[in-house]
Amino acid sequence: MKNSASPVDQQPFDFILFGGTGDLAMRKLLPALYFRHCEGQLAEGGRIIAVARRDYNNESFRELMETDARIHIPEADFDAAAWQEFLQRVFYLPIDVTTVEGYSDLGDMLAGREELARVFYLSVAPNLFSVICNGVDEAGLITEQSRVALEKPLGRDQETAEQINDQLAASFNEKQIFRIDHYLGKEAVQNLMALRFGNALFEPLWRNERISDVQITIAESLGAEGRGAFYDQTGALRDMVQNHLLQLLVILAMEPPVSIDPDAVRDEKIKVLRALKPLVGGDAIENTVRGQYKAGAYADGAVIGYRDNEDVPSESKTETFVAIRAEIASWRWEGVPFFLRTGKRMESKTTEIIVNFKKVPHSIFETADGFSTPNQLIIRLQPEESIRMRIYVKAWGDDIQLQPVHLNLDFNDVFKKRQMIAYERLCMDLIRGNQTLFMRRDEVAAAWAWIDPIRQAWEQHNVTPKPYTAGTWGPAAANALISREGFKWYEE
Ligand code: BG6
Repeated sequence: MKNSASPVDQQPFDFILFGGTGDLAMRKLLPALYFRHCEGQLAEGGRIIAVARRDYNNESFRELMETDARIHIPEADFDAAAWQEFLQRVFYLPIDVTTVEGYSDLGDMLAGREELARVFYLSVAPNLFSVICNGVDEAGLITEQSRVALEKPLGRDQETAEQINDQLAASFNEKQIFRIDHYLGKEAVQNLMALRFGNALFEPLWRNERISDVQITIAESLGAEGRGAFYDQTGALRDMVQNHLLQLLVILAMEPPVSIDPDAVRDEKIKVLRALKPLVGGDAIENTVRGQYKAGAYADGAVIGYRDNEDVPSESKTETFVAIRAEIASWRWEGVPFFLRTGKRMESKTTEIIVNFKKVPHSIFETADGFSTPNQLIIRLQPEESIRMRIYVKAWGDDIQLQPVHLNLDFNDVFKKRQMIAYERLCMDLIRGNQTLFMRRDEVAAAWAWIDPIRQAWEQHNVTPKPYTAGTWGPAAANALISREGFKWYEE
């Protein structure tokens, strides 16, 4: 996982951004490429070709970009001279992707550059994936150095994901297909691998003899505002659990891969997905909680409930919160519950992994809290990145009284530089053709294979989401789920 590129790493490229005027392009992709330009990582002559329907030309598109960039690139990171240079790489091509002419215009732009890395980034609705793949294929634009990148959602279930994958496979081979889960591009997620496989310290502890339970929380304070129509068809299980949450679980639980090569890592990841104990029928009902937020308030004001959104049906039964008790059937993890939860409009935006270690087998000390919370590794991924280890020490004083303290590692203090956004890493990996942080076809299928029965059980048993107040940690049932074994969600 080399993080800084020397000039020899630079690959000349054409980065063709379908959906070039869309929200993701403006908010994340173009700023990410700008930052990489500033770091000197984009090869000279490397071009970004934004493709969309709207009628801009290079100049008017660059103006549009500038307006948006000012919103999405923090002022302190905006260098006007570098920005002007960056804009010279950006071109705009107005085409209708459903017509043959569109691809012939694109072909004209790409002609003579067949040896370069060619990225087709599909930042478009999933129903256009196969249209665009066919289009570039039939126009003869797929070269050996081509890759295609797609964003989730990759289907609504295993069957529809397979259909999409079949369509992709008709034009591209698996080594050319880059399925994005932007969580894998986050520094903190890569740091999780570094923590586990770059330090011998944790490995002997990383197992059921030493760990009592694991908790993974991805909490958001945002609601579904503005994307209710999409979200209502999707729900938290498909939107967050099938991908981001399971990816965190897998990286936390996987066996050490033999190398950092894409398939070495992905071979280990998929073993964990396949070892997840299926939650089917009554097991799914017993080990999951569905929730939906109602109106509530944060320090800066009141917010509406999920069903009050304009583009959400007033009787919607879509979940905005999920909690799951999962287990992994393997020598390492047998008997260790993994508690997963994610939700919108929760108390704060927090992504955290908590590894709770077992208590000492026999205590010779007194503690103020009766060792109620044993040693704990707290890996915080968002909003800021930190790792903390909770241990017991003797409090100063004349009696022997133990007290928990935190060994604290704050990455902002350690590195003192701008933290890369996930898409910077992913865009560079796309240009360089490194698939380690992208999902392989079988991984996506295995994730859906575990998720589908949960959704089916909810449907069959008519499980409706339990209401929770916006600004809280979710429905009370999620506390009941974890407390029945004597555990407690870590909330700070
Ligand atoms: C996206 C989901 O994949 O991830 C969104 O579709 C969610 O609903 C987002 O808000 C969260 O990403 P992040 O990087 O802000 O944690």
